[in-house]
Amino acid sequence: MTKHIPIITIDGPSGVGKGTVTLQLAKHLNWHILDSGAIYRVLAYAAQKHNLQPTQEPELAQLASNLDLQFQQVEDAVNVILDNENVTDDLRTESCGNFASKIAALSAVRQALLQRQRDFLQTPGLIADGRDMGTVVFPDAPLKLFLTASAEERGQRRYKQLKQKGINVNIGDLINDIAERDKRDTQRTVAPLKPAADALVIDTTTLSIEEVMQQVLALVNKVI
Ligand code: C5P
Repeated sequence: MTKHIPIITIDGPSGVGKGTVTLQLAKHLNWHILDSGAIYRVLAYAAQKHNLQPTQEPELAQLASNLDLQFQQVEDAVNVILDNENVTDDLRTESCGNFASKIAALSAVRQALLQRQRDFLQTPGLIADGRDMGTVVFPDAPLKLFLTASAEERGQRRYKQLKQKGINVNIGDLINDIAERDKRDTQRTVAPLKPAADALVIDTTTLSIEEVMQQVLALVNKVI
């Protein structure tokens, strides 16, 4: 790993606002972004297209190694291009997130995606968003953040986000889906969702995005 390029890792459960914080911070610092969840989602999308089941670990790992994947960082978003097709909108559904969390529990799949994630590290710096950025992918990162919020609040945030994108979901179903996904992500044996021992935990339940950014920027100014 290249030690002299700075990295900020932002881990935490679904719907906590990691993506928004990552984008705002990247804009502020003019750094690169790794949206690792999008990599697991794009693999889920490709797997479904190939009719693969979450039990087919070797086939899924093979697919993970061969994904023709590009990320295009635009003004306020990152576009995901798979086989020259913009699949960004297809990845946001809860069914894609659920399939992603099933295949993300497979060790061969995680191994196949490890170097691909580390390759995002480029000057002047990287903000890496996910579940295991601080624990597994970038264990030497100088600043590790772990965002949390109550399950209810995260459900509401994800609901608003999906609604803005024109995706209609039932709030009760959404909260259940998020809880199920978090349970799977937290309880898996490989790279479970948890704060790194040296991560700084920010509970965002009662904070606005502006208040979260204030805290994050104060830490960035202190550490980076
Ligand atoms: O962050 P996002 O909701 O897009 O992630 C989708 C799923 O991908 C998560 O529920 C998790 O199972 C998996 N994931 C992971 N490790 C990461 C990022 C995402 O296991 N670093």
